[in-house]
Amino acid sequence: MSRQQVTVQLGDRSYPVIVGAGVRVELNSVLPATARRAVIVTQQSIPIQVATDIPSTTVVIGEGEQNKTLSTIEHVVRAFAAAGLNRNDVVIGVGGGLVTDVAGYAAASWHRGTPVVHVSTSLVGMVDAAIGGKTGVNLPEGKNLVGAFWQPHAVLCDTDALATLPERELRCGYGEMAKYHFLTGDDLLAMDRTSRIARCVQIKADIVASDEREGGLRAVLNYGHTLGHALEISTGFEIAHGEAVAVGMIFAAHLAHVLGRIDDERVAYHQQVVAGAYGLSTALPRDCRADDLLALMQADKKALHGLTFVLDGANGVELVADVSTAAVTQALSRMEVR
Ligand SMILES: NC(=O)c1ccc[n+]([C@@H]2O[C@H](COP(=O)([O-])OP(=O)(O)OC[C@H]3O[C@@H](n4cnc5c(N)ncnc54)[C@H](O)[C@@H]3O)[C@@H](O)[C@H]2O)c1
Repeated sequence: MSRQQVTVQLGDRSYPVIVGAGVRVELNSVLPATARRAVIVTQQSIPIQVATDIPSTTVVIGEGEQNKTLSTIEHVVRAFAAAGLNRNDVVIGVGGGLVTDVAGYAAASWHRGTPVVHVSTSLVGMVDAAIGGKTGVNLPEGKNLVGAFWQPHAVLCDTDALATLPERELRCGYGEMAKYHFLTGDDLLAMDRTSRIARCVQIKADIVASDEREGGLRAVLNYGHTLGHALEISTGFEIAHGEAVAVGMIFAAHLAHVLGRIDDERVAYHQQVVAGAYGLSTALPRDCRADDLLALMQADKKALHGLTFVLDGANGVELVADVSTAAVTQALSRMEVR
C-alpha cells in the first residue's frame, strides 16, 4: 500500500501521521484551519520543498547537534516575529529529528504554544523523533536538557525523501527501527517499507497515547539505549546514536539471557533482526573497556534504583531495576568485539 495513516490518540489533541511516497502534497489539508501564515523551519540539505496555500516564509537552521541550541531557538523565534506569526498560525518543520525537535520547541514557546506540523525527511524522524511531542535542544552540559512536551498538529512522513538520505543516516534509522521488532509480536520483516514505517509509528503512537509524559511504559522506547548511550560517550560520539542502539539491543538480549528472562532462540532472533535484516554491526568497539561502560551505565538517568535496563522477557520488554554488576559484566563478556 502506498499511503498509510495512523492516529496518535490523545483526546482533543489527537493527530494524524501520514506515511507514504509523495505525501508532502497533503500538507495544506493538514494545516490548522485558523492558520493565516506559516513559517517553515528547515536545513540547507533537506531535499524536500513544501508549498503552502497560505503565505509562508522559511528559516534555515544549521546542521549537526552543535546547532541544536538555545541560540538557534532565538534565531527561529525572531523569524516568527519578523513574519508576524501569531498563535493561530502554524510552524512547519521540514527535516530530520533535529529540525523537528527545534521547530517543535520554538512552536511550544512561541506565544506559549503555536501549532506545529512536521514533514519528516529522515528515517529516525519518521519512526521516532517527529511523533510523540518531545521537543527541545542541547546545552553544553548535556543533550536535550531544555525542552517541552508539545504535540504536533499533524505529521507527514514522505518516504520519497529517503532516497537522498546519506547511508549512515539510513543506518541510524535502521537502529531505531529494529527496536520496534522486539516491542510487539508483529512480523515487521514481512512488511514492505511503507507498511513497516507505519507500523513503527503505530507502535510508538500507542505507547505515547498511554504514557504521554514518560511516567512508565514510554521507557520501553529506550530499548538498547542504556549501553547505547554509554558507547556514544565512551567513543566520543564516533559511533552514531542508531549504531550504538543496535549494539545495545544485542547486549540487552545477552543480559536478559544471563538473567534467565529469554532463551537462546530469542537471543538469536535479536541477531537475525539487527545484523541479518538491517545489516548493522552488533560488536563492541575494541577500545571500549567493560569497566568504563559499566560506570557510564551506572550514571544513566534511568538508574534510580541501581543498574536499570529495559529488558526483554516473558511479559515483553519492560524496565528492570537493581541488575547486578556481575550479570552486566557477564553479558558484556558474551559480546563480539571488533
Ligand atoms: N523528539 C524525540 O522523541 C526524538 C527521538 C529520537 C531522536 N530525536 C532527536 O533527533 C535528532 C536525530 O535525528 P536525525 O537522525 O533525523 O538527524 P538529523 O535531523 O540531524 O539529520 C541528519 C542529517 O541528515 C540530513 N537529512 C535529513 N533528511 C534528509 C534527506 N531526506 N536527504 C538528505 N539529507 C537529509 C540533515 O540535514 C542532517 O544533516 C537528534 O537531535 C535526537 O536527539 C528526538
